[in-house]
Amino acid sequence: MTRSAPKLADTRTALTLASNFWYDFRRFARASFVYGRRNQENQRAMIHILFHSIEHGLSLPEPRPGFGREKVDSLIRKTESYIAEFGPDRSTESALSALDGWIAFNRSADVDVDDVARNLDRLNAESAFRQGEASGGAEEVTAEEIARVSTQDFEAFMAARHSVRQYAPRLVTAAEIEAAVRAAQQTPTVCNRQTCRVYAFTDPDEKEKVLSYQSGNRGFGHEVGVVLIITSNMEHMNLIGERYQHWIDGGMFAMTLALAFHAAGMGACMLNWSVTKDIDMAMRKCVGIPDSEAVITLMGAGHLKEHFRVPVSQRKPLGDILSLNPPIDMNAPGVTLE
Ligand SMILES: Cc1cc2nc3c(=O)[nH]c(=O)nc-3n(C[C@H](O)[C@H](O)[C@H](O)COP(=O)(O)O)c2cc1C
Repeated sequence: MTRSAPKLADTRTALTLASNFWYDFRRFARASFVYGRRNQENQRAMIHILFHSIEHGLSLPEPRPGFGREKVDSLIRKTESYIAEFGPDRSTESALSALDGWIAFNRSADVDVDDVARNLDRLNAESAFRQGEASGGAEEVTAEEIARVSTQDFEAFMAARHSVRQYAPRLVTAAEIEAAVRAAQQTPTVCNRQTCRVYAFTDPDEKEKVLSYQSGNRGFGHEVGVVLIITSNMEHMNLIGERYQHWIDGGMFAMTLALAFHAAGMGACMLNWSVTKDIDMAMRKCVGIPDSEAVITLMGAGHLKEHFRVPVSQRKPLGDILSLNPPIDMNAPGVTLE
């Protein structure tokens, strides 16, 4: 079989594709700390990575006494220099509380961690920030507590969720947006780094302006009560292997946000941000979104009409989606990381 020469159009497509990948590559390389920590958010992310690993260890079935000592020392050093440079904040407070939890656990297991405790005392005195309840470490929860709030028929709740493309002409309040975003903050995030931000617009002119960059809202964008831009901050990304992590965290966050509106009896519709770099740059500039934040998706939300139509959007058969206990080739070559 002979291969035909690439058409000019194919070559042009390949170049455009490459330049769009290059745009993503450069922005990830600039914002993330694959080359080392260069700014406050990079350093803050590192504190999250470290205190998360302590909280993670404390939440295992049988934490190993003395676990994570290197990370503990590193967290103390990094928290200290962060506080010296930027002052204490919620992240350093969580770090100090996680260290408290680690010390308490080790003392209960008869491990001598007095040197860490002394360092922590010094840090506490320096930070002079810790107020109120501890906000880090590990906490006890019970199956009963969870069952009490999990009584909803989740399948029915999900089956009643639709992408809504008709809305009642009713204002969406700041309190309604805040409640939905607060719920979305409970979305899992890689190492608890919490990379997402939400830009919310309710002013009619501003909504229109933002929507003018997005084509998927045609025919209904004018009805949405609030337009949301969900971004994920690449400054919290650490490793080359995390080069797509912000899309994952951002997509999950966006889903929870849509479900939060649904749970509040409101409607939402994702508005894809499947755009080329030129449109991305233009919208980012118009709204003032920093280069370090990747726009994950836009979303429209609002109050429901009494009656409205939605697409049936029939789902594929479960068998197309789920492979239950698929056979695994035990002789397949694998990579051993440890
Ligand atoms: C990332 C993403 C982007 C989407 N973008 C749009 C869009 O631009 N306009 C639109 O009307 N719907 C959009 N949708 C909604 C999908 O069309 C919808 O979820 C799908 O057809 C299934 O329907 P359902 O959500 O009502 O179950 C988007 C959905 C996702 C997940």
